[in-house]
Amino acid sequence: MTKRVRTAVIPAAGLGTRFLPATKSQPKEMLTVVDRPAIQWVVEEAVAAGIDDVLIITSPTKKGVEDHFDRMTELETLLEAKGKVEMLQSVRQITEMATFHFTRQGAPFGLGHAVSMAARHVRDEPFAVLLPDELLPDGGATLRRMIEECEESGSSVISLFEVDGPEISNYGCAGFSSRDGDVVEIDQIVEKPAYENAPSNLKVTGRYVFTPDIFDKLDVTEPGKGGEIQLTDAMAMLIGDPGLRGLVIKDAGYDAGQKLDWLRANVELSLDDPVVGSQVADMIREIMQGRGLS
Ligand code: UTP
Repeated sequence: MTKRVRTAVIPAAGLGTRFLPATKSQPKEMLTVVDRPAIQWVVEEAVAAGIDDVLIITSPTKKGVEDHFDRMTELETLLEAKGKVEMLQSVRQITEMATFHFTRQGAPFGLGHAVSMAARHVRDEPFAVLLPDELLPDGGATLRRMIEECEESGSSVISLFEVDGPEISNYGCAGFSSRDGDVVEIDQIVEKPAYENAPSNLKVTGRYVFTPDIFDKLDVTEPGKGGEIQLTDAMAMLIGDPGLRGLVIKDAGYDAGQKLDWLRANVELSLDDPVVGSQVADMIREIMQGRGLS
């Protein structure tokens, strides 16, 4: 029986070049989505899926990420003295929802390299990896399913999403040998395939549950494109030894590391917000009418 998944690893040491100039001195993971940084949404998703231990891979320029999940006694004392109970709770809840650990990658040697930094922390346990720029606000449902699948089968499980036509050429693509409902047995992974050669229409998305076998594979992964250690190359080595499964998800959420989708996340998630949702709906209606768009 596979050990329980307890830890979420969140690689946050990338440069965020797709979101310049916003990310020149501010970590992409700290960009606000509605009322909290993107990375907090992702931690909350992991916690909702049953995880209580979080390891964030940061870099020397991402001190803000570490501070966000640390206690801020001065602020808490001030809020307490002013009787701002709700604000105090929202600040405390950030640090109390899990145990946080941080390790620095040093330089962005690639996503695979960032994940390998977790080896000493998770040791021989299976663990989840969540990319902090991909928001999946589904109350942890997808990640929970992936964890169950990994714990039951003993295989690593990655999330996959169907895309239309040539779009697949922009992503990692997974081919499969068999399918049982929404779970596939992966038999190949190709990075950005030409549309004609793509083994399927399933793109790899930013949620993974790995058995510790991934560390052995990362150890022998040669630097790939741009001299980076690619996670995809290590995942490809898991196929057949000991095996790699995919969960086909119905909603891939938002790519908050990219301007347009970040804006969409802000609009949709603020519409869902119980406090400001109806005001945001009114505001959007007003803007549309004012511009003659509706
Ligand atoms: P991305 O390639 O999407 O992020 O990596 P990036 O490199 O920050 O962004 P762009 O492409 O320049 O705009 C996916 C995730 O992996 C992390 C990133 O922080 C991001 O959350 N990552 C990437 C690392 O932690 N280390 C790396 O060396 C590379």
